[in-house]
Amino acid sequence: MDELEQLDELMTCRLDSGHRAVTPCAIVIFGASGDLTARKLAPALYHLFCQRLLPDPVRVVGVARREKSDAAWRDELFQALQQFSRTQPVDQAKWEAFAPNLCYCRGDVTEPATYEKLAQLLASFGPAPLARNRLFYLATLPSQFGTVVERLHEAGLLRRDEQPPFWQRVVVEKPFGHDLASARKLNSDLFRFAHEGQILRIDHYLGKETVQNILMFRFSNSVFEQLWSRQSVDHVQLTVSEKAGVGSRGGYYEEAGAARDVVQNHLLQILALVAMEPPASLAAEAIRDEKVKLLKSIRPLSREEVARQVVRGQYFAGHVDGQPCPGYRQEPKVSPGSNVETYLALKLFIDNWRWSNVPFYLRTGKRLPLSASEVRVQFRPTPNVLFAAQCGPRLDANAITLRLQPNEGISLRFNGKVPGASVQVRPVRMHFGYDAEFGAYTPEAYERLLLDALAGDATLFIRRDEVETAWEMVDSIRSAWGAKALTNRDFYAAGTWGPVAADDLLAQSGRLWRNPKAL
Ligand code: BG6
Repeated sequence: MDELEQLDELMTCRLDSGHRAVTPCAIVIFGASGDLTARKLAPALYHLFCQRLLPDPVRVVGVARREKSDAAWRDELFQALQQFSRTQPVDQAKWEAFAPNLCYCRGDVTEPATYEKLAQLLASFGPAPLARNRLFYLATLPSQFGTVVERLHEAGLLRRDEQPPFWQRVVVEKPFGHDLASARKLNSDLFRFAHEGQILRIDHYLGKETVQNILMFRFSNSVFEQLWSRQSVDHVQLTVSEKAGVGSRGGYYEEAGAARDVVQNHLLQILALVAMEPPASLAAEAIRDEKVKLLKSIRPLSREEVARQVVRGQYFAGHVDGQPCPGYRQEPKVSPGSNVETYLALKLFIDNWRWSNVPFYLRTGKRLPLSASEVRVQFRPTPNVLFAAQCGPRLDANAITLRLQPNEGISLRFNGKVPGASVQVRPVRMHFGYDAEFGAYTPEAYERLLLDALAGDATLFIRRDEVETAWEMVDSIRSAWGAKALTNRDFYAAGTWGPVAADDLLAQSGRLWRNPKAL
């Protein structure tokens, strides 16, 4: 093979060994009987075990209120695995090798006695690293986070002054607070007993392969990065749409709404990665510094701007995939007069050199026609001469779409000549699909996040200033809404792309939502 051919080969450049340095430890899950443990944590731990990525030895302790034996908890997790594991059928032999590492500890998380029992159990694990390295996973009610950490400290299980080589870390599930004040309070409660390096705030979107790929796509390709600014970009659309309604989570959702549930975290995190400047290095702090800088550059919204630039909506009964669905107000545990938003769309500006005056449109909603998360970077149209002069707005402007899920991939849309004697131009697509390129391997976000938590790598977790900055922006929207009731214009039928006001938001400046397609 000559030199040129060699250069053209597909060469993978490895940035790490692929194996995280993890030390023996105990993983303690508070909220062991909950939905998150069954749906996400148990399958993630099982897959990490199967791939030999978990520390060896390791113990997983589940803490919850109900009386249960170790065997009963293991059975429960096995059932959950059969339902939620991304690989089916569950490998019985591997499960049997993994299950003896799981222990159950009954107790109320608010009572000190629970922590004494837990301390005894951890001490019984024997050799120092196993008993002294601890990952505490808070999957309880958010109102209990502060108490759990305080009790852990009182029982001597969590120390701010860890004694290397031993470590203790706390993984905090979302929602991290329900507004800026409560997030600040939670941060200061946590800081009494742990330092920032010990606190890992989860946003599971950051564990998704495609979300991690945003930085690689932007900063390992000169072709795209050169286009990534106000010089070439007309506007950007970020969509997180879901077909599902709130289902059994009505109680939680009544307190959250789309602004707190998805905008404050997932959407703003995607925005930060899409729009941030290149970090000084790939170190966790360098990346998080740039994300915060970006979030701080979002132009604050005045009350009038919230009225003009933020659209909220709520679904009423309709059809998704031909199936009838109830309206939000008819869902279990939802007030029949609820004004909670199940849809939110907003227009933001980022006041920095790169993005000055480029609108970013963000939207999320439940009971939309399709479940998909996408970033669409819409480029400026060509000058109004030649083809554009003849076709007018029918000449499509170029776009890059990062499809985050499902059918993960990246597409470039541009115009081409339709073959034939007549002169016709239409958009065509160049597409990279993860499945076609790498095979159908999509690890769950929680696998990656648990592994990073075990390795102490905070890159994919949210720093204190990030979470607080994101709340500032969401608070400004919510306080502008105040107690104002939804109006007729704010409702949308289940199975449609949101209220008409959302279309008007783009139409004001001659733009259109580009809805994700079923690929
Ligand atoms: C969660 C929200 O954080 O993210 C849910 O609480 C939402 O309401 C979910 O459905 C979406 O996550 P994913 O990974 O299914 O896109």
